[in-house]
Amino acid sequence: DNQESQAMLEAHQWLTKLYHHLLKNSKDGRKAYEYLLDRGFTEETIQKYQLGYSPDDKDFVVTFLEKKGFHPQTMVKAGLLSVNDQGNYADRFRGRVMFPLRNHLGKTVAFAGRALGDQQPKYLNSPETELFHKGRLLYNFDLARSSIRKEKTVVLFEGFGDVISAAQSGIPYAVGTMGTSLSSTQANLLKKYTDQIIVCYDGDRAGIEAAVKAARLTKSIGCQTFVARVPDGLDPDDFIQRHGGDRFKKEVLDTSDTYISFMMSYLRRDYNLQVEGDRIAYIEKVLQEIATLDRAVEREHYLNEMSSEFQLSLETLKEEISQIRSQQG
Ligand code: UTP
Ligand code: MN
Ligand code: MN
Ligand code: MN
Ligand code: MN
Repeated sequence: DNQESQAMLEAHQWLTKLYHHLLKNSKDGRKAYEYLLDRGFTEETIQKYQLGYSPDDKDFVVTFLEKKGFHPQTMVKAGLLSVNDQGNYADRFRGRVMFPLRNHLGKTVAFAGRALGDQQPKYLNSPETELFHKGRLLYNFDLARSSIRKEKTVVLFEGFGDVISAAQSGIPYAVGTMGTSLSSTQANLLKKYTDQIIVCYDGDRAGIEAAVKAARLTKSIGCQTFVARVPDGLDPDDFIQRHGGDRFKKEVLDTSDTYISFMMSYLRRDYNLQVEGDRIAYIEKVLQEIATLDRAVEREHYLNEMSSEFQLSLETLKEEISQIRSQQG
């Protein structure tokens, strides 16, 4: 009910403050603070994103929330505590660096807790609750919204660190999908602010597969989609920490591929273009992608490219495209 949701929301605001306080003022928290500074986050950034530390204690938060008058059962529903068969309550997040996940109004509605070392999972997230649906929230949307409007562009990252590093180094128009692929709810939300979107996921297999999905989805709702590649197997955060935001802008964002160029090189990996059958299959796949483009000028541009690369007449390719488009409806 409403009162319960209100309590869940309030508890999240208290814990945001508490975790942040502990990061700066507790002995173990200092270690987490050092960790964040080592990663290249400034004090100002840590403050701005209200990063925190959850003590490695089984009932620190249990006690805190109880003192504040919250019902433990409600706090379990909020994803802040766990309860065992004996009815004992325990802290969900322990010994982790805490990232508050804010809704579009800037209120914390969930947390992600990063391990300080190699413990699994690397990030422990709040479960789905009344307040938090992972597929509906974009990390940093509340802070990024006005710059997205101003820049008429949004950069899409997968990780928290990517978003924070980018913001810290002059790219505030960025949001995060938190590892999973972009949902259509998230895509449509972004589309209300801009139709130019740069997908900038990690360069590993998982990142590339997720980028393909995000690119297809945003393209399908009429966005002008670009896909950026981070070189040398780095993720965007690594790149920015190593080379700075200016180089990231120039060498990664500004050199993003258009949707089709990206799809061409992605599809290419599955085929040996020296083999005739493969070549034809590849051409078919690319034509399918080109057919989805709304603008005739854009379609023709890529058809010209295909025509010269594969020595096919533009007529033939155009005919093929009309056919595919009539099938696609
Ligand atoms: P990555 O594995 O790329 O982690 O996952 P990262 O963000 O680069 O992590 P750092 O830099 O080592 O701290 C990308 C995103 O996927 C989600 C998180 O949102 C993470 O930022 N994720 C990842 C999880 O939710 N759980 C995990 O165990 C791992
Ligand atoms: Mn719901
Ligand atoms: Mn990744
Ligand atoms: Mn990463
Ligand atoms: Mn990273």
